[in-house]
Amino acid sequence: MPNFTALREDFPTLAREVRPGVPLTYLDSTATAQKPRAVLEAMDAFYRRHNANIHRGIHTLAEEATAAYEGAREKIAAFINAPEAAQVIFTRNTTESINLVAYTWARANLKAGDLIVLTEMEHHSNLVPWQMLAAERGVELAFIPVTAEGLLDMAAYARLLEREPKLVAFTHMSNVLGTINPAGEMIAAARAAGAITLLDAAQSVPHLPVDVQALEVDFLAFSAHKMLGPTGIGALYGRRDLLEAMPPFLGGGDMIKRVDLDGFRANDLPHKFEAGTPAIAEAVGFGAAVDYLRAVGMEAILAHEQELTAYALERLAAVPGVRIIGPRAEKRGGVIAFVLEGVHPHDVAQILDGEGVAVRAGHHCAQPLHLCFNLPATTRASFYLYNTRDDVERLVKALAKVKEIFG
Ligand code: ALA
Repeated sequence: MPNFTALREDFPTLAREVRPGVPLTYLDSTATAQKPRAVLEAMDAFYRRHNANIHRGIHTLAEEATAAYEGAREKIAAFINAPEAAQVIFTRNTTESINLVAYTWARANLKAGDLIVLTEMEHHSNLVPWQMLAAERGVELAFIPVTAEGLLDMAAYARLLEREPKLVAFTHMSNVLGTINPAGEMIAAARAAGAITLLDAAQSVPHLPVDVQALEVDFLAFSAHKMLGPTGIGALYGRRDLLEAMPPFLGGGDMIKRVDLDGFRANDLPHKFEAGTPAIAEAVGFGAAVDYLRAVGMEAILAHEQELTAYALERLAAVPGVRIIGPRAEKRGGVIAFVLEGVHPHDVAQILDGEGVAVRAGHHCAQPLHLCFNLPATTRASFYLYNTRDDVERLVKALAKVKEIFG
């Protein structure tokens, strides 16, 4: 088992104080993760030594930059066990990856009356693009309900599949409830019903082993910044035949093979979907993040976070007035959303910040899910590989302070 306490030293931000004498307790990795030195140094080295545009210049730096960018793609493809690197498209983030599918595959393949199945626990990123499509095309959206425990109602899902949806798109791990959905089982059922599948893996790829071939998923979307990498870059994995048949997304340089005044011929995968100068240094940082996670081991990271989450659930449940939403420990990853009776979640977060404890408060870009629980907002603590039981203790102690202030 890796030494998770020792690896905190790799993350410069974790060593800072929020204000003099108040150390940082970072419990907001679901929003964005902190970055290890290896990622910062890889990006710094790229800009200091190799900076050039890619796929264009015939000079040494351009070739080095291209090799670094494409090398990062190889690492990311291997990380999710994609059959080939060309099936990994660099995007800006998970949101853009999902929009890419909505604007290309869906607009080319769906018509009025076609059904898309989503869930009530989706992040707005996997909801609004489909609502926009529904308004434009008249496709129908249906939702797998969330149970009181914060799980998907699988019987309701089976009934929705009888209606032969064209697409089933759902989150692998909820960014509010922490629920880890049974993706393999759900994808197999969707395929048997003839649907294409899209997995929002923004919260799963950073925290647990994900194998696109074992899952047999058609599209998978995730972001670098939630998995120790930089902001501004994410990825879309897609099945080769689907990606090849899809029209391009954005038009411009690099995504073409040939252009004349009458039209263009699209480039091969993956370049067909990467118009314009991409986030090159960010790709290098993304690759370094994947190297770091692989070295620690995704099985070990998942086990560490689940152990920590079980501990935190127990400690928080013992705080009078705390109501936690979401399932029991073995069904969830390291995300805990809760309310403290009589105190607005924003006030909770503000007082916690005074104690150096960084959490998120609000609807966490999942307003429909909060409505399922009759809550306008929650406070959310989330964990990553660098968190320890000490962080949980600081959270519990800071909550005592909130109670003290609010009587
Ligand atoms: N999706 C991110 C979160 O849940 C921003 O905080």
